Amino acid sequence: MATFKIKRYNPEKQAEPYFEDFDLDIPDGATLLDCINLIKWTQDGSLTYRMSCRSAICGSCAVKANGHAVLACQKQAVSLVKDGAVQIEPLGNMKPIKDLVVDFAPFWDKINKVKPYLQTEDTPPQKERTQSPEEFRLIDDTSTCIMCGACYSDCNVLEVDDNFLGPAALAKAQRFVGDSRDSKTLERVTELSEPGGIWDCTHCGECVERCPKPAEPFYRIKEIMTVALEQGVHNNNGARHALSFTKSIKHSGRLNENMIPVESMGYFNFKGLIELIPIGLRMLLKRKIPPIIHKSIDDVQDVKRIFKELDQ
Ligand code: SF4
Ligand code: SF4
Ligand code: FES
Repeated sequence: MATFKIKRYNPEKQAEPYFEDFDLDIPDGATLLDCINLIKWTQDGSLTYRMSCRSAICGSCAVKANGHAVLACQKQAVSLVKDGAVQIEPLGNMKPIKDLVVDFAPFWDKINKVKPYLQTEDTPPQKERTQSPEEFRLIDDTSTCIMCGACYSDCNVLEVDDNFLGPAALAKAQRFVGDSRDSKTLERVTELSEPGGIWDCTHCGECVERCPKPAEPFYRIKEIMTVALEQGVHNNNGARHALSFTKSIKHSGRLNENMIPVESMGYFNFKGLIELIPIGLRMLLKRKIPPIIHKSIDDVQDVKRIFKELDQ
């Protein structure tokens, strides 16, 4: 027996959402979705949520359980019970419409922004466009995405910045950046390097934890970053930051924290550099300024050897 604390919301009846408790004897092997279905069928037919396949394929049943996004039909209910209860809420970073149903419009807008279709020179094609197994492996993981929105729900950048494309759209972007048949790689990575794109990800890895499939967006974002750097798309703070970081480690084995902010901003970005001054002054007052003379670590030759081998 467990108590399902479900967030209810019906804008036609209540101004604010509230939690309602439902007690349920969890059947052996029941998924969270099985339990929500049982509650609807036996206790309250007005409970509203999305579902379809019950097989982790359609992507419609994602909700938050105990504060984290899960695919309800993939999660064993008993694994979620804590102190006799499970808390169920709608996905985050999207507006609730009714009970556990949220408005996916911003999610789809961002998917559409990354041009989620093949762009080739030969349209229509003269013959079938084939790929080798090795070429397909580059996009295999991301092509497993079922558009469930779990990653979007729990991305902490989206909580503070609506402009961020978000993990699902960026994973979808890698599907085409990495596609050997697409001819717009440079254009794609240039657009994805703009504000709101790949470099605004904070590398928290939450989307990897939440993704129910091998799509694992953060790893796809890193792949796009690599392609962007290889294609020479360096004129942005994110790329400059990554390059400065690497340069510092390669040179001394540690981060030169005095230079990284300056190099990330760009030597000729006077407006950006002026914006750094108050931060620097605050650090000075709090005695957080790193040593002015940047020293190498003792075994820096080992670090240089690792870089040399990687370069080769
Ligand atoms: S790794 Fe990046 S995209 Fe993924 S949840 Fe964190 S900030 Fe969002
Ligand atoms: S990347 Fe994973 S979590 Fe995000 S929408 Fe696709 S399947 Fe869902
Ligand atoms: S009902 Fe289709 S993924 Fe859960």
